[in-house]
Amino acid sequence: MTLSTVSGLDAAAVRAHPLCGPAEFMPARYRGPHRLGHLGWLDFTSRLERGEETSLVCSATAANERVLDVGGGTGELTRAVAVQLGHCTTVEPHSERVAALNEYAEAGGTGTIEILPGRAESLPFTDGTFDAVIATWILPYVDDLERAVREMARVCDPRHPAAKIVLIGGAPDNELVSILNQACVPLAGEPHDHQGHLLAVAAGILAGEGFGDFTLYRTEASLRFPEPDPEARVHAAAETLVNFWFEGHPAGAELRRAVKPVIRRHFERRPHAIGDQGTVLVARPRKR
Ligand SMILES: C[S@@+](CC[C@H](N)C(=O)[O-])C[C@H]1O[C@@H](n2cnc3c(N)ncnc32)[C@H](O)[C@@H]1O
Repeated sequence: MTLSTVSGLDAAAVRAHPLCGPAEFMPARYRGPHRLGHLGWLDFTSRLERGEETSLVCSATAANERVLDVGGGTGELTRAVAVQLGHCTTVEPHSERVAALNEYAEAGGTGTIEILPGRAESLPFTDGTFDAVIATWILPYVDDLERAVREMARVCDPRHPAAKIVLIGGAPDNELVSILNQACVPLAGEPHDHQGHLLAVAAGILAGEGFGDFTLYRTEASLRFPEPDPEARVHAAAETLVNFWFEGHPAGAELRRAVKPVIRRHFERRPHAIGDQGTVLVARPRKR
């Protein structure tokens, strides 16, 4: 596995790092949450190949004992951690995703999963309950970014030798985000999405909470579109992308129409995949 890794960063270096870029479009504040519907998310995950993301989360938590997965979704990474360590806890606000997680837990898969309905902004645990917290692809969906990140630090015990907080967000060249930013975000009247900004803000908050030693990695997830017919493929990708962030949006038909030419151009270069490239931020307690 080859990964570009850069370690020993402080929060200012994270903010300035190209993996949190592009620096010239860094917004001044949180743009507010995307709404993630359930059918759109299921379609998205059915096409998602996570690449090295799962093994990276597993190797990051291999020396941990009590891991919390914040916003576990349908639980692909929660399960991977539970299989590795025998147990993983997740907090997830969306009732249909909680039900999917419960089904898996009740089916008796390897490793136990504790599932709690709840939100990152108010985690139902006492201080230092866990020694690792993971929050993958959730920062763009929380209502209050600062509270959510502070809560992750609060429930993570900095005295554990392997204490860490692992966040994943979009890399600056994330193809999915770039297509949506180009074709749909302005049409929906929303501010530009900048995922590096979320990681940079999170790093500043975590540093203030004592988790100020950062490592950055890059990952290469992608959505796969195997449809042989080119127009059927463009249609499928337009559905997947629009339903991911704009499921049930009143301008849905217009958004689909607007995104198709951008997807068509993208498929000329990369015919069967749209990249969901990620930046992974691992925050450890800074040694004094
Ligand atoms: C893009 S999904 C990622 C799911 C999972 N972490 C993964 O990597 O597969 C984002 C998840 O964050 C959850 N979410 C939304 N708002 C949240 C909040 N305030 N606190 C915790 N999770 C939240 C959503 O319900 C959804 O399951």
